[in-house]
Amino acid sequence: MSGNTSSNAPRKILVTSALPYANGSIHLGHMVEYVQSDVWVRFQKMQGHTVHYVCADDTHGTPIMLRAEKEGITPEELINRVHAEHYADFSDFLVTFDNYYSTNSEENRELSSRIYRELKSNGKIAIRTIEQYFDPVKQMFLPDRFIKGECPKCHAKDQYGDSCESCGTTYSPTELIEPYSAVSGAPPVRKETEHYFFKLSECENFLREWTRSGTLQPEAANKMGEWFASGLSDWDISRDAPYFGFEIPDAPGKYFYVWLDAPIGYMASFKNLATREGLDFGEYWKADSQAELYHFIGKDILYFHALFWPATLKFSGYRQPTQIFAHGFLTVNGEKMSKSRGTFITARSYLDHVKNPEYLRYYYAAKLNGTMEDIDLNLEDFVARVNSDLVGKYINIASRTAGFIAKRFDGKLAAVENNAVIAELRSAADSIRDSFHNRDTARALRDIMALADKANAYVAENAPWEIAKQPEKSAALHEVCSVSLEAFRLLTLYLKPILPQLAQSIETFLNISPLTWGDIDRPLPAGHEIQAYQHLITRIDPKLVEAMVEANKESMQPQAASQPQKQSQDAIAEETGYISIDDFAKVDLRIARIANAEHVEGAEKLLRLTLDIGEEKPRQVFAGIKSAYDPESLKGRLTVMVVNLAPRKMKFGLSEGMVLAASDERGGPFILSPDSGAQPGMQVK
Ligand code: MSP
Ligand code: ZN
Repeated sequence: MSGNTSSNAPRKILVTSALPYANGSIHLGHMVEYVQSDVWVRFQKMQGHTVHYVCADDTHGTPIMLRAEKEGITPEELINRVHAEHYADFSDFLVTFDNYYSTNSEENRELSSRIYRELKSNGKIAIRTIEQYFDPVKQMFLPDRFIKGECPKCHAKDQYGDSCESCGTTYSPTELIEPYSAVSGAPPVRKETEHYFFKLSECENFLREWTRSGTLQPEAANKMGEWFASGLSDWDISRDAPYFGFEIPDAPGKYFYVWLDAPIGYMASFKNLATREGLDFGEYWKADSQAELYHFIGKDILYFHALFWPATLKFSGYRQPTQIFAHGFLTVNGEKMSKSRGTFITARSYLDHVKNPEYLRYYYAAKLNGTMEDIDLNLEDFVARVNSDLVGKYINIASRTAGFIAKRFDGKLAAVENNAVIAELRSAADSIRDSFHNRDTARALRDIMALADKANAYVAENAPWEIAKQPEKSAALHEVCSVSLEAFRLLTLYLKPILPQLAQSIETFLNISPLTWGDIDRPLPAGHEIQAYQHLITRIDPKLVEAMVEANKESMQPQAASQPQKQSQDAIAEETGYISIDDFAKVDLRIARIANAEHVEGAEKLLRLTLDIGEEKPRQVFAGIKSAYDPESLKGRLTVMVVNLAPRKMKFGLSEGMVLAASDERGGPFILSPDSGAQPGMQVK
């Protein structure tokens, strides 16, 4: 992979990162990808290549439609708000896209329609009638993820329609036992509908060839092999209204499935950039394009990028990706990110607590090696490594030598010809370049830090603070400090793709123009005047990291009130007879699904309810609602329950909570129901 592409000939390169969904916040898992691609882009730009780096929000689909509905806003309002949040998160992490667009754009609508028409005229589209689950209450077809029920294999309850989280079996939603709609809670019905398919099964020869052309990492190529072996199925690219997306041309009520228009969003974002900057769109996308196209993605979306996407491009007359770079998943402290452990950390929360994005950029870069292996953010190691490498090794070189240049030599440097340490730092350039090029930043940083160790050893051996005490050794002092700062300049150059902000303040300190790769052989000349040294970076205080984890735990607790408010609210409560928000927060209210309802022998008023609140074991509650409800009519309904009411032993068994119902002399009881979209287990606040 390093072959001829790592030479220095000028190239035209288009780079993308996967488009994050517009229904959630950016978290530290996402950041693995955006840091990895941003580092690579900055490295390529430093090589002097022409690089365009584009991304966008992925805005279409059922989850986004339902989320907007739940918030009482339009999908457009939701995606505009999230776009601003995502953009701010990326900017603050120094991820510098040349364009950050949206898939809900005119460019994308046009390109998606055009590509679809091309596929159709090339005979790659088929229309077939399929049977799908339909929510009779909500009047919509249900995506697999919005159907739940009992796993046909291990009989775990409340599993998603595509796979069981308990035993790992995958199946089709029609195999679920007692399925129910996650949107309304109602049992879905099966209904026929016409869908549009992309005939992927006819693309196998092309895809096999494409796989062999060096476009994939070895692990990804192996995965492809498995997929070929199990046979390629045609791809369902349409969804029925209501759906937030683009209507398919000449197919009223049918919409493009979000994954059809999402990768086309890469093109659309570039098109938007091209219009703004006067670039030639065709030069980058035409079938015989000489420009290079790279997609950074996570391993979970390889199928879409390595099968559907190249086939879509091929059979609509466009070029295919030069390479696809898949990375692994982030774990925190060796485990999957978890809200209860406080390790599901949003990008914003990191910025609020730890503040400096470059610490995380550095740590991720030190872990990423260009393979699809998962990477672990060990929070203790994170603090230790950043402090010892960045502060202890790297910055130390300048902080121990710069002061002498200012104090003794009017800020002016001496010549650094023929120094062994500098020669060694320079001669590592090609190997470091290749590591960056191959996305093996772990290796690049190992090499760079080994060089920093050498530079530090040089400083220690020559002990400028000792020579400084001997006036006759002034020339030696001048040389040692100048060599150290030249070493520091080279290290800064190598680290710049990872630490762009720090590099910028060092460029100011060294009084030089922005460093590019070619500057390796252009040492600071004798007599060059530098600025006074100013503190460049602080150690991470582990307390900040602890506070971040705590804050992410807290956000999951029912009470949002913080400590200072508590005092005054308690005081108010005492005086007024109101309860404080903390008192209210003691009541743990949750959405529950009535999994079962039945008469209780010998009970006049009670029904026995089995309530599912998303926990392993459903709750049994005896509710005095027999006069108003036929048990059959309650099954599958969602309601609100008090989860932390002390269990009560009753004649008929243990009652583990309470459901809420309204009643007075005008009638009742009426049990409460949440709006659509609520899920069993959600907290009611
Ligand atoms: N919208 C799709 C991508 C469409 S691309 C045409 C999507 N969005 S996502 O928000 O779920 O993920 C965006 C990127 O972040 C993906 O490449 C995904 O693999 C990556 N990651 C999301 N969570 C991650 C981790 N926990 N760890 C590492 N990368 C992860 O997929
Ligand atoms: Zn199962």
